[in-house]
Amino acid sequence: MKITVFGTGYVGLVTGACLADVGHDVVCVDIDQSRIERLVQGEIPIYEPGLESMVLRNVEGQRLQFTTDASMAVEHGVLQFIAVGTPPDEDGSADLQYVLAVASTIGQYMNGYKVVIDKSTVPVGTADKVRDRIAGILQERAVELAFDVCSNPEFLKEGSALEDFTRGARIVVGTDSDRVSELMRECYAPYNRNREKLMLMSVRAAELTKYAANAMLATKISFMNEMANLAERLGADIEDVRRGIGSDPRIGYHFIYPGCGYGGSCFPKDVQALARTASKVGYEAELLKAVEAVNKRQKSTLFEKLSHALGGELQGKTIAVWGLAFKPETDDMRDAPSRELMETLWAHGATVQAYDPEAMKECRRLYGERDDLVLVADRVQAVKRADALVICTEWKEFRTLDGEWIRGQLTRPIVIDGRNLFDPDIMSAAGIDYYAVGRGKNSQSPITA
Ligand code: UDX
Repeated sequence: MKITVFGTGYVGLVTGACLADVGHDVVCVDIDQSRIERLVQGEIPIYEPGLESMVLRNVEGQRLQFTTDASMAVEHGVLQFIAVGTPPDEDGSADLQYVLAVASTIGQYMNGYKVVIDKSTVPVGTADKVRDRIAGILQERAVELAFDVCSNPEFLKEGSALEDFTRGARIVVGTDSDRVSELMRECYAPYNRNREKLMLMSVRAAELTKYAANAMLATKISFMNEMANLAERLGADIEDVRRGIGSDPRIGYHFIYPGCGYGGSCFPKDVQALARTASKVGYEAELLKAVEAVNKRQKSTLFEKLSHALGGELQGKTIAVWGLAFKPETDDMRDAPSRELMETLWAHGATVQAYDPEAMKECRRLYGERDDLVLVADRVQAVKRADALVICTEWKEFRTLDGEWIRGQLTRPIVIDGRNLFDPDIMSAAGIDYYAVGRGKNSQSPITA
């Protein structure tokens, strides 16, 4: 099938590459000239395991093209995926200007029947706005052309996006048109072979499904973080509690890991946007607001524990940070807990000595050259002569810690573990002041055996 994808960001690129990989003829279009030039030269602007080789082999096979030529792109596909950004505007609502700009472009250049597919995460009701925008442009052009708008949200996780696209749990398609259902079925057929994954529903239900899924997952995390904070104050170990409740199949083990708060491009913005959508229709989403507030508070616990461990003396200290990305296997630092930590440390006159396996370039891009940010080549250098270590991301290579060694590196043996990677008994037996999340002792004292 001929397919056009608007937007070569994370979602657009993964969608375009995965659809080309099963033989569709895909054109990816973006208004960002330099991004397209880089892609044409085979340079992939984001880090995602497997994506680079998938893009390259499909470009080579001439199934995947990149262009800034919108008129060519609109002409190309009967399916027109919109996969551009929906950043939060000042009040936390999703900003639809990029989505609607694409709708205008499609209206301007379309020359025959098109299915316009909202892939970006967009508030309930957006498909109607896209439809109105295209209809308005066609009216201005004084042409009559048929088109449909459908919703097909993505459920991609950074770090496993290709796997999620090709072997995802479901393919949600919101439409009330049989013609669209058939075209979407054909588009996804190669990824819908082993069992029926296509779920047809109304456009609005599909739009809400995406937000509900992310809000539910974010709720699980904030709930566990709240329990962890309670456990700390009540002298219980949240890791025992996690196993205890996870064993109930109604609860399950997934997504109940306490930590230093969720980040990334989806949860923070989607929870906020859904709460805004709710209040716009006269409903105050108390639970969603609490999920967000708990997460905000959780991100500050790293600094609080560190500050307590250092007796409030941050000025002139050097703090080792392991992990900058919001989670492993990505270079994405959007809303990462490391950022709040580093920014607070700088405000208190401390220097950050940091290492991340993938996000160093991104960190430099965000913060530039500054004296109080030292980016080092590996985890060993990060702790050299540092006053304490804070672990923000659970990259595999951080999952071992030799107590004796780390004591020899740090000027004080303080380890703040935002991801509960280690056994507190082993850490304290090795003479480390080990602070984790919800592990039985009050956050104001290190965990001791
Ligand atoms: C998420 C959704 O999982 C995905 O379906 C959606 O399409 C986009 O948003 P992503 O943001 O890539 O994906 O990351 P995810 O792996 O879900 O993790 C989100 C955050 O939650 C991370 O900061 C992670 O550290 C945190 N998390 C996750 C926890 O703190 N505890 C958990 O148990 C799980």
